[in-house]
Amino acid sequence: MKTLRIGYIGAGFIAKFLTVAMKQVRHCELTAIYSRGGAEDIAAYAKENRLGEPKIYSSVTDVCNNCDAVMIFSPNYTRVAIMEEIAEAVKAGASVKGVVCEKPLGRTVAEAEKMVELARDANLLTSYFENQLHMNAINNALSQLRPQQNVMGNFTLARSTEEHAGPHSAWFWDPTRQGGGVLSDMGCHSIAVCRHILTPEGKPNTFLKPVAMQCDTSLLKWGQPEYRKQLLDKFGVDYTKTPAEDFVTGIVTFKNPETGQLVKGQFTNSWMYDKQGLRLWMDAIGPGYAMEVNSLISPVEIFVGDEAAEGVADAETALEKSTASRGLLAVHSNEADFYGYTTETQDAVDSFLAGKDAMLNFEFGAEVTFLVQAAYMAAEKGTTIDLTDEKIKKELKSYRSLISQGKGADVLYS
Ligand SMILES: NC(=O)c1ccc[n+]([C@@H]2O[C@H](COP(=O)([O-])OP(=O)(O)OC[C@H]3O[C@@H](n4cnc5c(N)ncnc54)[C@H](O)[C@@H]3O)[C@@H](O)[C@H]2O)c1
Repeated sequence: MKTLRIGYIGAGFIAKFLTVAMKQVRHCELTAIYSRGGAEDIAAYAKENRLGEPKIYSSVTDVCNNCDAVMIFSPNYTRVAIMEEIAEAVKAGASVKGVVCEKPLGRTVAEAEKMVELARDANLLTSYFENQLHMNAINNALSQLRPQQNVMGNFTLARSTEEHAGPHSAWFWDPTRQGGGVLSDMGCHSIAVCRHILTPEGKPNTFLKPVAMQCDTSLLKWGQPEYRKQLLDKFGVDYTKTPAEDFVTGIVTFKNPETGQLVKGQFTNSWMYDKQGLRLWMDAIGPGYAMEVNSLISPVEIFVGDEAAEGVADAETALEKSTASRGLLAVHSNEADFYGYTTETQDAVDSFLAGKDAMLNFEFGAEVTFLVQAAYMAAEKGTTIDLTDEKIKKELKSYRSLISQGKGADVLYS
């Protein structure tokens, strides 16, 4: 059995989470890490857990010379430059055969298309990491409901939310570096997962055709003076001048090209969800049947009273983006697996070893970017966007949202 040698570019929050997931993934080893951020910590963790003997390299090229699959886990604003370096390394004879990129594939449609082009020109296999489409909770519910769907017809409505109290690194908050606010950061998950749930059994993941987008972006919490000050003090980001949305909601309409039936995906995302911690919530309704997932309902819960809470130093051990360390708290016994990190990594490993793209390739990632940018455009124009209109599609190719240009004050404070 062959083993896929993996190299990381970026060693922060998501790289650590995916390394935890790797303990449950077979036929791979971590061999190379680009020398940034928490590279030493991840290398030590990998050795301790027998995930490999990764070496730390000071160039992207050296990482590409010492792995079969390179994984891009660096901030959104570094994507294209890193992909260019990877493509150059391949042309110079590097061993790497496949590339993985975390969401979002690009901050704009143009950036996402550039990622696709660079990877294809370099003959690289691709995997777009969108963990929620790999969540066993969702896919097991779908499998369970397929017989009902075959008799009754498919889902007509899917709703998806991802919410927490705000990101952990300064660059996420800066719309010019991140590509926007919570819509760019987490709307990509919710839009993609709605489409996945709505897709009929056995059809490709781009089978449903997006036909319309409605969206509203707003700044409900972090634009208030006391919270603007917190952001400035903690992250050096000034939401008086360059704000990003902390709340978004919208509806994307899809058409089944075989039957003409219209189905809807409703997405809601926020960075002002002041509850226990990260919540993923999805539900879907079909004729006579339904499904629902709520990540804050776990079979495991703990209670910490006021007295005992004084001794708790790290609230985030129990749940991603935890905001509380007392009261009744949800605990996940296998959080990396629950969010789909295990299954998405196994899919990339198995696919690359078999010489093919992963279940979600870069082209799929570019489609998600297209839908996210269409949502920004719909919110800016204050109208429903017709996604079948060739003029709109052309406009989206070079579109950059006002919020991502640092002009969010015009959109969010007026
Ligand atoms: N799927 C998910 O649920 C999920 C969750 C979190 C983050 N992400 C995505 O993962 C990516 C990284 O996010 P994060 O939370 O780990 O961020 P982070 O800030 O915690 O870590 C970023 C890492 O990249 C390194 N880095 C910075 N500039 C770099 C450069 N020019 N070249 C190479 N490395 C560089 C940093 O030193 C650090 O190691 C983002 O694109 C984000 O959208 C996805």
